[in-house]
Amino acid sequence: MKTGITGATGQLGRLVIGKLKGKVADGTIVALVRNTEKAKDLGVEAREFDYNKPETLVESLKGIDQLLLISGNDMGQRAKQHTNVVNAAKQAGVKWIVYTSLLHAGNSTVSLAEEHLPTEKAIIDSGIPYTILRNGWYTENHTSSVGGVLAAGAVFGSAGNGKFSSAARADFAEAAVVVLTETGHEGKIYELAGDETYTLAEYAAEIAGQTGKSIDYKNLPVSEYAKILESFGLPGFIAEAIAGWDVSASKGDLFDDSHTLSKLIGRPTTPMSEVVKNALAALK
Ligand SMILES: NC(=O)c1ccc[n+]([C@@H]2O[C@H](COP(=O)([O-])OP(=O)(O)OC[C@H]3O[C@@H](n4cnc5c(N)ncnc54)[C@H](OP(=O)(O)O)[C@@H]3O)[C@@H](O)[C@H]2O)c1
Repeated sequence: MKTGITGATGQLGRLVIGKLKGKVADGTIVALVRNTEKAKDLGVEAREFDYNKPETLVESLKGIDQLLLISGNDMGQRAKQHTNVVNAAKQAGVKWIVYTSLLHAGNSTVSLAEEHLPTEKAIIDSGIPYTILRNGWYTENHTSSVGGVLAAGAVFGSAGNGKFSSAARADFAEAAVVVLTETGHEGKIYELAGDETYTLAEYAAEIAGQTGKSIDYKNLPVSEYAKILESFGLPGFIAEAIAGWDVSASKGDLFDDSHTLSKLIGRPTTPMSEVVKNALAALK
């Protein structure tokens, strides 16, 4: 039985492939990627797969039984791109699609839901058996800018006292592998989030505690925060989107206390402090 992984050369996809190897028979993992050169170090079969090239997708999916569709990163294009993949999967006879969606996509004000929900619908409407992994925030969304936080002496945001139930990217990768390698997950929609919940002020305090530096949380009006993000070089529409996600977090949209993720992976999710520690170590 062959398992196809899209986005396999991305950060989540690489973790999934690493964890899947050894759990499934050799030669049964297929990395479905835009650039097969970039996939060489994965050590598995790689096939060209660009969500924007619908005419090529059916051929690349030949013989694939189960497909992990990792959502793309081209904001605004993804509903169409993912639908291209679902249509091709139907034609190619894929028997099961696992899709990485967004936490509480059904009622979240996080703008990303606008692309994840239509994808979920396309998958469900296709009639192909499915599992939806509604992934919460990666803790790395915060810690990837820890160097900037140290330089500024502050965490900036617009999340107020909003609680983040984030988990490490590796925790979400493990969940995908569990689902792909076990039975009983078909037809399920899982809301996946970290065991631990924290505000951005608590996140700032964690960095302060680990570094001995004074790091405050500065809560800003959304337009000011977007301007700061733009000043760091982000395109305006991305800066506005990111700042807007904080506003959604302030309304509780990134909070979840179901512990579905830790139940699925059979262990507690990675604590925020550990992800912070790793991010600080990577700066050295
Ligand atoms: N839960 C969260 O907090 C969170 C945070 C960020 C992103 N996400 C979502 O989760 C996904 C995986 O996360 P990640 O950290 O692995 O993101 P990532 O490192 O940016 O990886 C995205 C992957 O999507 C692939 N991709 C983009 N456009 C494509 C296209 N047109 N055709 C085929 N593949 C395409 C990329 O291919 P290349 O390798 O060729 O670039 C890459 O492998 C993201 O794409 C995004 O949808 C979730």
